[in-house]
Amino acid sequence: MAQKSKRSPIEPPRIERRGGAAPFQDAELAVGTSAHYDDPAYYGRAYARRSSDVDYYTDLASRVRGPVLEYGCGNGRISLAMARVGVPVVGVDLSRAMLDDLAERLAAEPAEVRGRVRLIEADMRTLELDERYALVICPFNAFLHLYERSDVEAFLARVAAHLAPGGRFVFDVSMPDPSELARPAGKLYRARPFVYPGMGRVRYGERFEYDPLRQLLFVSMEFEPESGAPSFATPLVHRQFYPRELEALLHYNGFEIVEMVGDFAGEVSAETCGIAYVCELRAAASGKPKR
Ligand SMILES: C[S@@+](CC[C@H](N)C(=O)[O-])C[C@H]1O[C@@H](n2cnc3c(N)ncnc32)[C@H](O)[C@@H]1O
Repeated sequence: MAQKSKRSPIEPPRIERRGGAAPFQDAELAVGTSAHYDDPAYYGRAYARRSSDVDYYTDLASRVRGPVLEYGCGNGRISLAMARVGVPVVGVDLSRAMLDDLAERLAAEPAEVRGRVRLIEADMRTLELDERYALVICPFNAFLHLYERSDVEAFLARVAAHLAPGGRFVFDVSMPDPSELARPAGKLYRARPFVYPGMGRVRYGERFEYDPLRQLLFVSMEFEPESGAPSFATPLVHRQFYPRELEALLHYNGFEIVEMVGDFAGEVSAETCGIAYVCELRAAASGKPKR
């Protein structure tokens, strides 16, 4: 299913490998963290029109000095845009397929852009780097792969350890939507057919099942190639974090929220679909008086 990218005449950048994935609670969660990212060509097509987050993070990054640490960089939708405007990026991701795709895309970039991106295959819950960063980001729902409190705590401890004094941690997550979480389990929601990279036209639908105790949304993305090739489904699992729960998790792990941005545009309201949380280490946690 995964499409091989066109070979570039320039050797793709090296991907450093740092440790394996920290354990997931069960196999369903492990696959719900990885399957959607096994086919970067499809991922790239699916989110090609999403641009407000790219503009938001690129603008933030161009206002800080030094490299930006991006957790869950995937195949570089945001990392590449940051590198193109002159920002050095350290991109961390668990998915080898996504990183390989990003490395191939970098090989097609001018040398100065390519030279700005360092790629690390690692688990954001455990990775230790020697450097500190003025800006650490975790865009586009990568945070929703932190299914348990222990995952969130491990991750936030790594963020805190990698923040330079006065640095900021910015991440964005979808707002849980009660009407969406209440969808009948197993019902197929059809969307329009589209051209799947390397496969031709496919019929597409999604099924949802919400576990209200673990606050986990299980999604099954279902593809039926019109060519008659076998149908297949890709699972995805997202933790649902309510704003006050996130505020508490951030607070008790040493962070304070300095700004919440609704849909990358402005104030947060009841209609907001996604929130970007701009955080700093709390004075007590960073050991420094607040500016
Ligand atoms: C929705 S994608 C976002 C990719 C990219 N930042 C973008 O905006 O297109 C989430 C990414 O987080 C990565 N990811 C999920 N859990 C991770 C973990 N524990 N450590 C590192 N990366 C992880 C996935 O492999 C995936 O590439």
